[in-house]
Amino acid sequence: MKFLYIEPDQDIRDIYAMKLEADFCADIIAVSDEKEALERYQEQCKNGPNRPDLALVLLDAGVASTNFQALYDFFNKLHKIPFLLLYDGDSLMLLACLDTFLSDHAGNRTLKKPFRPEVFRKTVHECLSSNNNNFNWVKNAENGHNKVKIQNFLKFNSLPCDVFIRLNDMKFVKLLNANDMYTTEVIQKYIDKDVRELYVHQEDYPVLANTGLQNLISLYDRKSEFQSIQELNLESLENIHRAIQEIGLSTEAVTLTTKTIISSVRLAKGVRSIADLLNKMKSSGNYIYDHSMKMSYICTAIAKHTEWGSDSTVFKLSLACTMHDMTLNNDDLARIELLTDPRLKIFTSDEIEAFKNHPQDAAKLIKDSKAFPSDVDFIVAQHHERPDGSGFPHGLLKLRIAPLSCVFILAHEFVNRIEELGNVYNLENRDRVYQALSQEMYTRGNFKKPFEGLRRAFNLAPKNINDT
Ligand SMILES: [Fe+2]
Ligand SMILES: [Fe+2]
Repeated sequence: MKFLYIEPDQDIRDIYAMKLEADFCADIIAVSDEKEALERYQEQCKNGPNRPDLALVLLDAGVASTNFQALYDFFNKLHKIPFLLLYDGDSLMLLACLDTFLSDHAGNRTLKKPFRPEVFRKTVHECLSSNNNNFNWVKNAENGHNKVKIQNFLKFNSLPCDVFIRLNDMKFVKLLNANDMYTTEVIQKYIDKDVRELYVHQEDYPVLANTGLQNLISLYDRKSEFQSIQELNLESLENIHRAIQEIGLSTEAVTLTTKTIISSVRLAKGVRSIADLLNKMKSSGNYIYDHSMKMSYICTAIAKHTEWGSDSTVFKLSLACTMHDMTLNNDDLARIELLTDPRLKIFTSDEIEAFKNHPQDAAKLIKDSKAFPSDVDFIVAQHHERPDGSGFPHGLLKLRIAPLSCVFILAHEFVNRIEELGNVYNLENRDRVYQALSQEMYTRGNFKKPFEGLRRAFNLAPKNINDT
């Protein structure tokens, strides 16, 4: 049984194709437009003695073009194959066949984006049940393993399940451990050797397709940027975006990060308890908001220049930047980094207590919401740790702080020091802060790779740094 899936965006296409494979016993013919869909289908008809066992056509209605009618007439009217139209806003109105769409076939359905994974699965089931099939993902497994296109692993740097490479019909060898960090280079090495698929245990496949991919869908499934900026109350992002470019990050990198930030804020604002805090942050003065957004740009730039630069990791860091100080409601308090700072004395004991607890408080809200990928909560919980052990709440040293937290902390330190120089983003201040950081513990232990990332993000010459 096959599904034909038409979606122009490659990232979204890869993710949903994998999700469909995980949820249903089907091979997915994933293509970018209607023309390619017809060509691929006709090619398959030529190759085999029988017509491909096509059970469903899924189409992003936003891309319905002049070829749509031909595609619809061919598959739905002639071959009685149900259609599932995925649409955004009023993109459905563009389709001429809409009047009769639901009555043309008992399995025809429409689904408005964004949708939850379980709603997607249920709707696909409804489309198929008109043919009375019984589907089960386990059937797709080979010797207890399900295959996954290797390029999908480039989107992550850690996964909730073990991943295997196949040596022969019977033999699978473990390549990645569940929840361990892996570098994109490892995956690229196998792609270069022409490996096309990796494998996960069949019982882990739905976990990967649902948990692992769910957040990436919110990253890739973007509404128009302009609409989002207004809707999310992000008007000042434009100014921050412009300021950040003054320190030598490429326009392309900054623009891409702006999109990631919009996706992060949209996801965070989808959680009521967190949306209230973020809205308050914006209205209580500009510092925490401005600081959080600048953090996102710098943190993303560093991560992209390390071996953990996958979309999923960058998204996690951007989410952590957006929410890390959300429980603080005083700009002056938010400027403080260490519990030894004498400026703390002017605050009441309740305010000091709230400051001491803000990393764990924010981490708990993130964890309890269950809306965010793993790691975001611990990055936030560790954001005031420092490599020399002077941080809080645990006074961890440079080798005990998790690598992604180190990326975050380095970016935090960078942004705060620019703030101390009058919050002026220019090459001179950038170089002063970089020089200062290079003479401290930020080049050592688990900070070594993030510091290299910072250097590469700004295209600066390597320094002679000893690892200790
Ligand atoms: Fe903080
Ligand atoms: Fe902060």
